[in-house]
Amino acid sequence: MSQPSSVESRIQELRQVIDDHNHRYYVLDEPAVPDAEYDRLMRELQSLEAEHPELVTPDSPTQRVGASGDNTFDEVVHRLPMLSLDNAFSEDELRDFDRRVRDRLSTGGDVEYVCEPKLDGLAVSLHYEKGVLTQAATRGDGYSGEDITANIRTIESVPLRLRGKTLPDVVEIRGEVYMPRGGFEELNRKLANQGEKTFVNPRNAAAGSLRQKSPRVTARRPLEMCAYSVAVPDEGILPDTHYACLQMVHQWGFRINPEMSLATGPEECLKAYESLLDKRDTLPYEIDGIVFKVNILEFQQKLGFVSRAPRWAIAQKFPAQEELTELQDVEWQVGRTGAVTPVARLKPVFVGGVTVSNATLHNMDEIRRLDVRIGDTVFVRRAGDVIPQVVKVVTDKRPKNARKVELPEHCPVCGSDVIQIEGEAAARCSGGLYCPAQRKEAIRHYASRKALDIEGLGEKWIDMLVEKEMVRTVADLYQLRKADLVRLERMGDKSADNLLKAIDGSRQPELWRFLYALGIREVGEATAKGLAMHFGTLEKIAEASEEALEEVPDVGPIVAGHIHSFFRQPHNQETIAALRERGVRWQSVEVAEPAALPLKGETWVLTGTLSEMTRDEAKEKLESLGAKVAGSVSKKTSCVVAGEAAGSKLAKAESLDVKVMDEAQFMAFLSEQGLG
Ligand code: IVH
Repeated sequence: MSQPSSVESRIQELRQVIDDHNHRYYVLDEPAVPDAEYDRLMRELQSLEAEHPELVTPDSPTQRVGASGDNTFDEVVHRLPMLSLDNAFSEDELRDFDRRVRDRLSTGGDVEYVCEPKLDGLAVSLHYEKGVLTQAATRGDGYSGEDITANIRTIESVPLRLRGKTLPDVVEIRGEVYMPRGGFEELNRKLANQGEKTFVNPRNAAAGSLRQKSPRVTARRPLEMCAYSVAVPDEGILPDTHYACLQMVHQWGFRINPEMSLATGPEECLKAYESLLDKRDTLPYEIDGIVFKVNILEFQQKLGFVSRAPRWAIAQKFPAQEELTELQDVEWQVGRTGAVTPVARLKPVFVGGVTVSNATLHNMDEIRRLDVRIGDTVFVRRAGDVIPQVVKVVTDKRPKNARKVELPEHCPVCGSDVIQIEGEAAARCSGGLYCPAQRKEAIRHYASRKALDIEGLGEKWIDMLVEKEMVRTVADLYQLRKADLVRLERMGDKSADNLLKAIDGSRQPELWRFLYALGIREVGEATAKGLAMHFGTLEKIAEASEEALEEVPDVGPIVAGHIHSFFRQPHNQETIAALRERGVRWQSVEVAEPAALPLKGETWVLTGTLSEMTRDEAKEKLESLGAKVAGSVSKKTSCVVAGEAAGSKLAKAESLDVKVMDEAQFMAFLSEQGLG
């Protein structure tokens, strides 16, 4: 063989390094380099391959998408049928299974099992020849499936080439392709935003993504693959146990499930079931049960198969996370900001381990998207600690008298008009603080821990105080008297004293807490702090123009608009005046003289990674010097601080001739300002 040219050896080296990074990132979950470094290596390989197309090979990491064109979906006949698993529906059925195994093996002793999570995705079969992925197929009917090679290649946790020196000539790996929860939720959010159909669950999303004609679409879907079995023509080369086989497959570059464990005898298997069930909701992917497999391969062979399932394995299912039930009604709830949200009232159904009788329907857009009507049979899903959702309607079962869901014209709580603002998903009650629902929420927010932290003023008391009209606005809290309180049901002498003490103790809040407590739309804790630091007093904030408000970090035109209009509402002015009158004294903040701030009026941009401090720390320092810190570079940018691996923002700054500092210059600048 001739010596590889220097280009060729660089290409080989890059492929090796990139494969290693991929493996660490997607299989071991231990990235070794920042994304920017990975991108640089990939770009170098791409450009070398573009200059030397004759050196491109199908197992190059650049060839995951596109190189082999579209999916053919041709039929693939499985060399070994892809079987399914029998299920055990009770502890006794599992014990029976173990007894059958022991009888057939004629062993008196306990049998060892591998306990594997049963991933909720799709089974796939992958063929490797001389270590290179040559064909991927779906399970199909178990005897033949579809050729999905081009799509499988886009899944980064599937190695295009096996790792390691001693590899069998041909090998088949089987495993599950699945979509992690986080990726599923994000995908559905995106699809819903685009007004497209969403997927009912991660399994359907994985199936839909694998069945795409274009691998480009699949490549954008967050799929993963986890191996659970291996087959080679010469079984002599395999280790003695299933467990060791999976470790070997992991060495070859596949993900195997980290929750896998070994158990001896059925009682240990049942313990493994319980402990996996306990963990179920915390795993980043969905599982629908546990699979027990006889560990010793020789035993597996002795046991063989019956019809379509092995005698050496069994699945024990977990409680379902999706069930069918009837949508009996839709009610409307009103939140603090007046958002009027639909809540589905369901015929109670046991799903995801609890009885569910309510589910969120989000907003009218969602109701239209689902085309859900009262009386419909619906799929309810409760997975993890996510609130129950209506995910699909069974239109075939729609009764004749099913009723369309209409947005109410009037607020169900106060009767004010409900308005739907253009471009906003939520409909709103226009009653503002006249609406008891909004009043309750406003008081709850005012008393919450991050706001004025009035301990003991819980939802129950707020409901009663508002309903009995003892409290209309937060200012009325400071006029409550013990004699009134003790008349409330279940309010004892002591609770009344404690509550009054807590209310009294909230009379001198820091300015930012008070601002936050007012519940101005989109003014969270950070914005409240920014406003307090910038203006120093409530009066100045209340008088500020929208432009002046926008000078505060993180305050854009929308938030400035909310703040400005809040202070111009007569009922808000009255409430603030009443609070003052009743002895609430929010604290002013010392504000540095604007002229003393050296970066006043400047806009800075941070990009790349800083080694001496986090980006948030750098941002805070710049803001304390009066600069605004923006996320993108424009002609108006005063200076760009470029850390390690700065990318497009640095390039843009250079092209616009904007001043740039590297980290050393930035540190020197900060120390000149006394912030080093
Ligand atoms: S073993 C002959 N192991 O469950 C053994 N299957 O009902 C065949 N599955 O089609 C499968 N996790 O899609 C096995 N750890 C696991 C699994 C698993 C999920 C799925 C697989 C299969 C179905 C069988």
